[in-house]
Amino acid sequence: MKVLILDNAEAAVRRAADIVARLVGDRPRCVLGLATGGTMLPLYDELGRRHVSDGLSFAQVATFNLDEYIGLPPDHACSYHTYMREAFFDRIDIDPARTHLPRGDADDPQAESLAYEARIADAGGIDLQVLGIGQNGHIGFNEPTSSLGSRTRIKTLTDDTRRANRRFFDTFDQTPRHAITMGIATILQSRACLLLATGAAKAEAVAGMVEGPLSAACPASALQLHADATAVLDRDAAAALT
Ligand code: F6R
Repeated sequence: MKVLILDNAEAAVRRAADIVARLVGDRPRCVLGLATGGTMLPLYDELGRRHVSDGLSFAQVATFNLDEYIGLPPDHACSYHTYMREAFFDRIDIDPARTHLPRGDADDPQAESLAYEARIADAGGIDLQVLGIGQNGHIGFNEPTSSLGSRTRIKTLTDDTRRANRRFFDTFDQTPRHAITMGIATILQSRACLLLATGAAKAEAVAGMVEGPLSAACPASALQLHADATAVLDRDAAAALT
């Protein structure tokens, strides 16, 4: 895994944006895998800024998000559909028909998971999967103990993850218990992976990902298997690396 350590979060975000922008510039019809969460917000701000000021166009790009909460329709204020529209899609020139997230309100989430895998394959696979990392080492919503061979499926969220997500909901009880997430094998199938981690709270998970044993206890450690994975870190997130 290539590890890039930048002085601060702003520099790490700019470096991650450089990697995305280079791909989109070189291959306007590329397929991006996207993530949600707090870490991604400044990255989407930066890419949105480059769209406006540098003319970076996403008009022909297709996107596939990692995950969506089960039970939330796309127009729910806390759905990842809404997050993506507000944080990114509404601020760039992307064709909404080329953006994809699993449907959290599907009648049959298992069938939706299989259909999502098929949609990724139909698009020719993902060129660059953008990832964040949970404090427990999760990627997407592949919580610790997730099979390294997993595909898109239903996952039960740990209480730790629900507590971390609680800030977006009125109460802990309203915080969803399940999500549809791309699997670890789905993520590893992407032609390249770019993981962005900032802040001291991620230091332990980052150390497990980069230097820990390859283990389902730290799902992000599966990226050690990927031939083209890059971790972009700020100093705080890199602090536990030896
Ligand atoms: C969500 C996702 C998650 C987040 C992770 C970090 O689509 O992929 O794995 O990246 O939970 O979230 P933040 O950035 O909020 O700490």
